[in-house]
Amino acid sequence: MISSLDFPRHGDKENSSFFEDYLQRLLHERDRSGLTGMIDQVEAIMITVDPGNSIRYIGELALMTPYEYLVTLESESHWTHILRIDMNSPDFVIREVKERRTRGIFRSLNEVYPIGAVKPNSRYMGEVLRVTDMHSVVECQQAREFRFFSQDETRRLELPGNIAFVKPSPYTHNIVGYMERAPEQIRVYSLGISNIDPEVQEVYLAAKELQKQLRIDDLILPIDHLATRVYSQNREVAILEWLSLSSYYYWGSYDIRDQNSSTNVTKSVHHTDEIHSPAKVFTANNTPYFVNHLEKLPSPTETFVRNYGPRLHHIALAVRDGETDGQENIEYVVKQIAAQGRNFLLDVIGSRNQGLKQIFSSASEHSSLIIEYVQRFGDFDGFFARDNVAALTHAAGVEEELLELNAKASRTHEGAA
Ligand SMILES: [Fe+2]
Repeated sequence: MISSLDFPRHGDKENSSFFEDYLQRLLHERDRSGLTGMIDQVEAIMITVDPGNSIRYIGELALMTPYEYLVTLESESHWTHILRIDMNSPDFVIREVKERRTRGIFRSLNEVYPIGAVKPNSRYMGEVLRVTDMHSVVECQQAREFRFFSQDETRRLELPGNIAFVKPSPYTHNIVGYMERAPEQIRVYSLGISNIDPEVQEVYLAAKELQKQLRIDDLILPIDHLATRVYSQNREVAILEWLSLSSYYYWGSYDIRDQNSSTNVTKSVHHTDEIHSPAKVFTANNTPYFVNHLEKLPSPTETFVRNYGPRLHHIALAVRDGETDGQENIEYVVKQIAAQGRNFLLDVIGSRNQGLKQIFSSASEHSSLIIEYVQRFGDFDGFFARDNVAALTHAAGVEEELLELNAKASRTHEGAA
């Protein structure tokens, strides 16, 4: 039997005894019940965008990632595009709502947040996990009081009918889906009418051609980690809830005091290489926003959550270790993409000595998500460097202040119109 509690602990952030006690009990029970064995890797990540954004977003992803456009599933009020590398890494599922007026639970999650409301249908939705026995997993999770969308609700939401979806988390607002598939089978999504959209195909092929010309097509690897931001008071429960829904273990937490924040890492018990199932990272302020005036501490993480709501902040892609034209690959990739007009929020940070280099792109105008690139050197097996995280968190906070001003300006404009 797999033991989810046998992995070494990293980090310096202290957790409450509530967290440490329930971590032991939840993972022990998850292993004992067979859930850890039945739930495997992240099969897909799902993102919804507002009308008119999916094709350009796919162009962006095709240039900045190794993903290929596979097919579009058309249903009554959505186009759902599938991007894939292969069966060893998760798919991107990009949904576009056809009508701006489309309402529903996912839009409601955006609407109470000042910047989230500006692109009401655009948000990262969550992950689909591969399971070996969907019926048993759903039954077991329901017994643990997780609530699922009914088949009828899944159909009305125009989500794939062969996936069982847990309702949005109260802590992260993300959803988790379970999809049954044997390892040798191909991934399929039961939804709508499938076709290759000529417009998407054209944008995708042009981006792939450009990627080749820039000689970055061989340097960008699959997803390394997914980073979600939550309110300070939800840090521990968000981690424990995710561990209860998945077969991930708690790797550890680092206190990033400079930014009044912590970075909390969980990884798959089944896959040591993130390329097969990305690490899931949670970031939260150490103290809530309303004590900032007393403590005089920075607060970029909680400010993000107050502006967008709890949600995914960035998707990190690994960059192949090595050099191109005398530059480390990450520097080369960033230089080539920046020359196409994409902004990055800071210079590449970190060093060979620290074990890794990282950078954040600006947030996508289509999904609001940031792309991180990370190059790990040699046999570095740490997950990140503290100084890097502080610099990245700070840079994203500065960018977000600008977005907040823009959001305010556009609301004032709408109010006046
Ligand atoms: Fe990251």
